[in-house]
Amino acid sequence: MPSDRLAIAAHAKANLFLRILARETTGYHTLETLFTLLELADEVIVERRPQGITLESPGAELGPVEENLAYRAAEMVLAATGRRFGVAIELTKRIPVSAGLGGGSSDGAATLHAVNALAGNAVPRHELLQFAARLGSDVPFLASGAALALAWGRGERMMRLAPPPAAPTLLVLPKFGVNTKKAYDLLDHGRTESETPRGTIVLDDEAFATWGGIGRLGGNDFEVPIFGKEPALRTLFERVAGTRPLLARMTGSGSAVIGIYRTAADRDAAALEIGGKDTNLIPTETRAAPAPAPRTL
Ligand code: C5P
Repeated sequence: MPSDRLAIAAHAKANLFLRILARETTGYHTLETLFTLLELADEVIVERRPQGITLESPGAELGPVEENLAYRAAEMVLAATGRRFGVAIELTKRIPVSAGLGGGSSDGAATLHAVNALAGNAVPRHELLQFAARLGSDVPFLASGAALALAWGRGERMMRLAPPPAAPTLLVLPKFGVNTKKAYDLLDHGRTESETPRGTIVLDDEAFATWGGIGRLGGNDFEVPIFGKEPALRTLFERVAGTRPLLARMTGSGSAVIGIYRTAADRDAAALEIGGKDTNLIPTETRAAPAPAPRTL
């Protein structure tokens, strides 16, 4: 008999590099990225109910409930399993929103797994991953369980990689978020037809084995347009880069900048150096273990 109340950690992600390739006729963009999981996580609790879906997140501003990815994920699994029951979802939000850390996407991915577990895992894994792709570009990675993956297409095509050892990480956030759609529009606007095409790149698997190798793989295509529009974010990035991290990057379309360090002492020293009233700092680590499965409460 499947359990009636489950909890699952919904981990944040970061993009260790991010190339935005072609703009499709649909307006969507193909991309190429290296995803890592972070230890920072929201928590999702789902409980079986006779019918319907409720969603609560004490202390957080969720916006329209039906548009929330956790709600939509639950709806997809319940519809696919014949609406034999409903769910109450409770989110504990710790991942900052509009930061490029995949918080909403991870809540959706975790909810797919948790509601499916309530349904006795009636939806096969490959189908659950199709639901993930329908929810958003970051959701397939977050639903895959991989700790590190190279992803392309819209983010739904992936190669799972062996992660380097977990590394101390500092998330540095300005007091504002960045809207992903606006970031893509800004990027399109800055690109011209006459732009020289990218050169050939060969990605050696050895490059993914160490933080030094990953650091040399390049940056994030959103950095130039977003820093142009938000000079305060460029300043923040430069402050992080100045603390001698193994890697400093903006993640996703921003607004978080991540610094990855050799030791926790280096990270904590960097936090003291960077801190200010205009920034939020969140110390965490990259995650070398797969994303966790739901656990019975
Ligand atoms: O995937 P997500 O819901 O975060 O995307 C938000 C918006 O960003 C999309 O509606 C689309 O306009 C843009 N986007 C894109 N190409 C992608 C991902 C997102 O153009 N691969």
